[in-house]
Amino acid sequence: MTSIPADLEARFAAREAQLLDDLFAFLRIPSVSARSEHNADTQRAATWVHERLARIGFTTETVQTAGHPVVLGEWRKAPKGAPTILVYGHYDVQPPEPLELWTTPAFEPTVRDGKLFARGSVDDKGQLFAHIAALETMMHVRGTLPVNVIVIAEGEEEVGSENLAPFIEANKARLACDGVVISDSSMFAPGIPSILSSLRGLAYFEINVRGPASDLHSGSYGGAVVNPAMALARILATMHDDTGKVAIPGFYDAVRPFPPAVIAGMRKLPFDEEEFRKEVGAPALGYEPQYTVLEKLWTRPTCEVNGLLSGYTGEGAKTVLPGVSMAKVSCRLVPDQDPAAIEALMKAHVAKVAPKGVTVTVTHLHGGKPWRADLEGPLFEAAKKALFAAFGREPVVTGEGGSIPVVGDFERILGVPVLLMGFGLPGENAHAPDEWMSVENFNKGMRAIAALFEQLGAGK
Ligand code: BES
Ligand code: ZN
Repeated sequence: MTSIPADLEARFAAREAQLLDDLFAFLRIPSVSARSEHNADTQRAATWVHERLARIGFTTETVQTAGHPVVLGEWRKAPKGAPTILVYGHYDVQPPEPLELWTTPAFEPTVRDGKLFARGSVDDKGQLFAHIAALETMMHVRGTLPVNVIVIAEGEEEVGSENLAPFIEANKARLACDGVVISDSSMFAPGIPSILSSLRGLAYFEINVRGPASDLHSGSYGGAVVNPAMALARILATMHDDTGKVAIPGFYDAVRPFPPAVIAGMRKLPFDEEEFRKEVGAPALGYEPQYTVLEKLWTRPTCEVNGLLSGYTGEGAKTVLPGVSMAKVSCRLVPDQDPAAIEALMKAHVAKVAPKGVTVTVTHLHGGKPWRADLEGPLFEAAKKALFAAFGREPVVTGEGGSIPVVGDFERILGVPVLLMGFGLPGENAHAPDEWMSVENFNKGMRAIAALFEQLGAGK
C-alpha cells in the first residue's frame, strides 16, 4: 500500500469538517481527572466515547473502577485468521489552569492557523478520536473491519493510571490480542511521521520538612532554631553533583545503555540544539555535556523539582522562620530503573542527608516503569507502510522523555508488542495553556490508522 485506498479516502475527504465538529463536542467536556468537582464531566466524556463506539456497531461496556471508568469496545467479526488489535487512549485531561494564559477558553475549541486549540486536543482526546473516526469510516464504507478490534479508553491516565493495570490483569483473557496501538505521543517534526521506540518512566515524590511547631519570629528565634526552608534547600542540593548528574547513591545502577544503533539513529535525526534552546526560551541549556540534547531527553534519567513551598512569598518583606517546607520531586527513569527501587534509594538518601533539628518525610505519590521496544515484527512493518500511505514519506524512529505507564503493563500482562504512533507536534503545549493539535495531523492521522488496520488485515 502506497496511498490510502480510494473508497476510504473519498469518505474521509467528504467528512473532514463533520468529524472536526464531532471532536469539538468531545473537547467541550471538561473531563479533568484530577479534580473531583469534574467527576460528572469525566463520566460524561466516558459516556460520549461509549455511545460513539456503540453507534459504529461495537459491543460496548463502561466498567466502573475505584476511580474513573474504563470504556471497553469490542468488535470481533473480522475474517477468520485476522489479527485482534487493541487500541488504547485516554479521555481524561490535565487541569486547564492557569486560565488567564489561554488565548481562547480551554474548553471552547477554536481553530486558528490550522491548529485546533483546546485542553485535550492532542493529549489525548483528538488522537483517541482519530482512531474512532478511522474505525467508523471503515465500517461505513465497507460494512466490516479487516481486523478484530478492542478499544480501551481510560479516564485516569493523567493521574497515574492506577486502576488500569489491575483491570488489564483481571480481564487478561478477554483482552487477548496480537498487538496494542496507541496514539498519545508526538511526531518528530511537521510532515515527519514517527514511531516511538522508548518512553521514560517516573517516580514522583513529595518531601515534607517540619521544624518548630509553628512559624516563628525570625529575629527572636533565627540562628538557634533550624529553618525548614533552608533544610529542604540543603537536601535538594545534594541530589545532583556539579555536572548535573544525579548524586543519589545507586541511582544509575540499573541503567542499561541504549544499543549503539539506536543512539546512532538519534544522532542522524535533523535536530538543531540552538533552535531548541530558543524554543524553550532559556538563556542556555545544561547538564551532562557528553550527551546530545535528544540523548539527554530520551535516554538519561533525571531528578527534578516540580514545585516548592515554604514561608512568606507575598508582597514585601515578612521576617519569619517558617515551620514547614515542602517539595514535589520527580525522577524520570530509563530502562531498567524501577520506580520501587528508586523510591527506596530516594528515602535512604534523604534520611541520610536530612539535617538534625527537622523531621523529614518522603512520600511516593505515583510511578511507572520505563519502556523500550525493539520495533520488529508485522505490527511495525504495517505501521511503516500505513504512515507512508498517509504522509507520503517513511517514518522516523524517535524516543520520548515523557511517560505512559500503561505501555509496559500491556506488554507484560498481555505479552504482545505495543506500537506508539502519535500525531502531536513539538510545541503543542500539552499540559500547558493553549494546547493545540494540528488539524492536518488529525486528518492524516485517522487515514494512517485506517491504513494500519487495512495493512494488518491484509497480512493475516
Ligand atoms: N501523552 C502524555 C505522554 C507523553 C508526554 C507523550 C510527552 C509524548 C510526549 C501523557 O498523557 C502524559 O502526560 N503522561 C504523564 C504520565 C504521568 C501522569 C504518570 C507524564 O509523562 O508526565
Ligand atoms: Zn498528558
